[in-house]
Amino acid sequence: MFLTFLEAPRNAIFYRTSANAMKTVESFPPSLAGICSLQEAMKPGLSVEECVRRLKRYHYTFKRLHQIFTARITAEPLYELKMAFSLHAHLCAEHASALRRRVAEMREPPLGLDVVPDGDLEMFFDEILGAPTTAELTLGLYEKAIPELKRALNRHLEQTNRLADHPTVRLCRFALLEIEDLLKFGSQAIAAVVTADDRQRCASWLKLLDDCLVAAGGIAGTEKSVATLGGFQLAGNAPEKSPYAPKPSRQYSAKPYEYDRVPKRDHRFPDPFNMAVNAEVFLYDKEFPPQPKTLMMFYKRLREIDVPEMMASIITETKEKPWEYYRDMTRQLWDEARHAMMGEVGFANLGIDWPSLVMINHTWSLALNTQLKPIERHAVLYFIEQGLMPKNGKRFEWELGRSSKNPLSGLFQDYDWADEVLHAKIGRDWYLKDFSNAQEAVRYGDQCWSRVLMNWENWRQQGLTQHRNWWPDLYSAACERWGVQPDSKVLAYSTSYQNVRADLKELTGSA
Ligand SMILES: [Fe+2]
Ligand SMILES: [Fe+2]
Ligand SMILES: [Fe+2]
Repeated sequence: MFLTFLEAPRNAIFYRTSANAMKTVESFPPSLAGICSLQEAMKPGLSVEECVRRLKRYHYTFKRLHQIFTARITAEPLYELKMAFSLHAHLCAEHASALRRRVAEMREPPLGLDVVPDGDLEMFFDEILGAPTTAELTLGLYEKAIPELKRALNRHLEQTNRLADHPTVRLCRFALLEIEDLLKFGSQAIAAVVTADDRQRCASWLKLLDDCLVAAGGIAGTEKSVATLGGFQLAGNAPEKSPYAPKPSRQYSAKPYEYDRVPKRDHRFPDPFNMAVNAEVFLYDKEFPPQPKTLMMFYKRLREIDVPEMMASIITETKEKPWEYYRDMTRQLWDEARHAMMGEVGFANLGIDWPSLVMINHTWSLALNTQLKPIERHAVLYFIEQGLMPKNGKRFEWELGRSSKNPLSGLFQDYDWADEVLHAKIGRDWYLKDFSNAQEAVRYGDQCWSRVLMNWENWRQQGLTQHRNWWPDLYSAACERWGVQPDSKVLAYSTSYQNVRADLKELTGSA
């Protein structure tokens, strides 16, 4: 029997069977593509105007977090924090980029993405940027800023119309996923580095951060403090700042922030000026077998810790570039941090205690950060990375890893190579553009690197290092793990960086 459309049950549809007869079904897949219920899709939600207003504040928050994480990489001594700040800077840059694209979709030009949306929010982030110690910095980031951002994004999800504003919903959900990772790392980091005394010492400053947030109406600017009620009140679509909010005054940001470009390391880097072991000369010497060369490659990877330290200085000190410049450069910065951690894992996998057996120096980031201007540092980076592309560069290291019987070395070099190809492209996109031709850009990079003084002998005379040759001890320890007798020629290797630079040019790098 056929029903007319109007007679059919509300949630029934017709379909044709093979016999061409019409049948009805009464159960369906979820409605609205599974986004939310019909009921939820009927709520008023946020207007486009209000949504954009809030998005700009989330964008500002991610941008400031990116800035703070980046600026604090170089002088943060603790290795794990240096690496995590590199990741968290990258994640914040990616979410800021996604929010920029969303704002641009929403009928609201001019976009005004470079406008500070709120003076109190600005002060909140200025204070964290200027935090004098790791304790204050981590508390400000992981116990104040990021939890507040999480709260604002969750509230957005609760308040917006999930159907009408679905593209924003999606961004918020992705952001929240990674915000959870940041918070998880942050709480563990704080448990490890912040003492009860630290907390007590900075209690009044933490209260100042709260006051900034109250004055700003929260990250989203939707909460006004109502003194008479003694708490927050949701302002929904009509954000207004409370006239009762306390007016905070600047403490650590009373003076403009000064970026510290001198790299610092923790106690696991006991001889940071040591340039006794020239990895490149060893790697390219055909007389030496692949297996010990994996040690040199793990050393080279771990030494890449100096690239985030140096790139953080370029990103922090280079102003007025398009946002994509900062995003791309920060992706590269994170890759370099990953390469360093691959080196760490390579040694851990061999049971090698790298802090006592491998002297990871900071001479390259120190020299570049303190002797060159940001554009000159970028020139050196570009010069080195272009040099990694020919056959004897990253492909060579990958082939070496594969032939070494150390699968981890092969795997890490595979990804290191892929990342370096991306970095060469980032260099072409953001450095090369300023030169009339590629040769000139490379020549300038070479020149800048040649100007860098590596005070090999001076450091020795000043007692900063004895340039102790640590290679025989590392190699002997690895041979023990491998269950092989050390090869006397490999054991005797003692070429330093005194006269030969890392690109094998006579005199003195990284990447
Ligand atoms: Fe690398
Ligand atoms: Fe690179
Ligand atoms: Fe690199």
